[in-house]
Amino acid sequence: MSKTKPTDNNSLPFLETKKSVAKVLNNYIQTSKDCKGNVLVQKSPQEIAEELNLKELFEKGFKDLTDLESFIKIYLKHTNHLRNPRYVGHQVAVPQDLSGIPDWIHGTINNPSSLYEMGPSGATLEGFMINWMLSKLNWFKGNDLYDFSNHKDNGSGTLTHGGSIANMTALSAARAKIAPESWMEGSPKDLVVMGPSTSHYSIVRSLSIMGMGKNSFIPVPVDTNEVIQTEALENIYAQIKKDGKRVMAVVANACATSTGLFDPLNKMADFCKKHQLWFHVDGAHGAVALLSKKNKHKVNGIEYADSIIWDAHKMLRVPALCTAVLFKQQEDQWNSFHQKGSYVFHENEVVGIDSMPYTIECTKSALGTKLFWSFALEGKKAISLFVENTFQQAQDLYTYLNERIDFYCPYIPQSNILCFQYCPDKLSNIQQLKLRYALINSGKFYITSCEINGERFLRTVLSNPLTQQEDFIAMANTIKSLAEALFFEKRQ
Ligand SMILES: Cc1ncc(COP(=O)(O)O)c(C=O)c1O
Repeated sequence: MSKTKPTDNNSLPFLETKKSVAKVLNNYIQTSKDCKGNVLVQKSPQEIAEELNLKELFEKGFKDLTDLESFIKIYLKHTNHLRNPRYVGHQVAVPQDLSGIPDWIHGTINNPSSLYEMGPSGATLEGFMINWMLSKLNWFKGNDLYDFSNHKDNGSGTLTHGGSIANMTALSAARAKIAPESWMEGSPKDLVVMGPSTSHYSIVRSLSIMGMGKNSFIPVPVDTNEVIQTEALENIYAQIKKDGKRVMAVVANACATSTGLFDPLNKMADFCKKHQLWFHVDGAHGAVALLSKKNKHKVNGIEYADSIIWDAHKMLRVPALCTAVLFKQQEDQWNSFHQKGSYVFHENEVVGIDSMPYTIECTKSALGTKLFWSFALEGKKAISLFVENTFQQAQDLYTYLNERIDFYCPYIPQSNILCFQYCPDKLSNIQQLKLRYALINSGKFYITSCEINGERFLRTVLSNPLTQQEDFIAMANTIKSLAEALFFEKRQ
């Protein structure tokens, strides 16, 4: 037997360490918000590893608090500073300053929330937030949000680690409905899923993982801005029937990842109702429109879906990851995974809310706590205002760019996503992409890019409440001078 006993090692003092980390983070938040320093400077992994002194720390651990503090400072230096108002990049929430507290609590107590008995508080918060989300869809039939009983006619849902997993959960439930034998016998070969050709890649990936093959996704054409052409639905459906196939689900984008535009959900719901098809709304990004009186109409018809997904780590200021997958009929969720694990599932014996039978994950984080926290920090109204403001920011950017002759915006934004090109008459697709890299390599701004119908666009996602007109002007002018330096000056 070994003579050295493992220690419950707490060589660094708890309170002092947390305080010192909080101080470093506070400084990070303030300098980011004040636009001091770059949004992002990308060094190579080797350079970062060396600067962080990973090998030595891995072997010997932090010597003392100073060691730890210096590690965190270097770590933070090599991050993408989302709180900088000039970060207008991916669909990843710019969290509130105190958003990290639930992750800290969870990291300290480690109560996974998928089994009620492993974390009653976390599971309760998840149940509460699911009730609230269901209520936004009119799928909650309980007396109030504290009502956790399974009312007949109630919808149901669970939180998952991300939208990709949530999409697969919903598709698995859709398959259980049309072909319940699949779980035991494998997928029948005649099942297909219809959706806009621009559906998020997690849809097709799910179908492949589920053994249905990529070709089981039947793309429906989209218009020039990547919105589904609903008039094509009937013909495609007729062809599918002619080919002897069955439609397992129809998927809608709310909104499209690239352009942020919404598919017409009401029309798609009518089509699904007519043919009795499962309607799945991928509301990963845009389901938040439900929270804004001004924007709610953009998701009209969402309540007719059979399932929807809704990412809280995109638009509800929740740090990654946290997604809801919601079902109009609770039986549909019960059927999503027909599987038993005797050490965890005891039918009729469960106290409280166990989400484990309904998730791909076995162990999962305290996701409900993170989601709840976002609201509790400022109150529900503040989140609605935040959402409304981000949509308005995209509108303001559109108005500004649209007035300039050197920029082209292909559409009026419906969410907080806006794509544009700089001098499309002069610059090729490759040059648009080069502009993006030049801009992010300058460290001054962080934007993304995407292809719309084969054409390259620069893409912004506005999720930082501090981003304002002067940032738009500075971004446009920086793009202009970079383009001049890169593509125009040499020719003169
Ligand atoms: C429409 C849509 N669905 C699903 C996803 C996947 O979500 P996640 O990144 O949480 O897995 C995304 C991500 O951008 C998305 O835009």
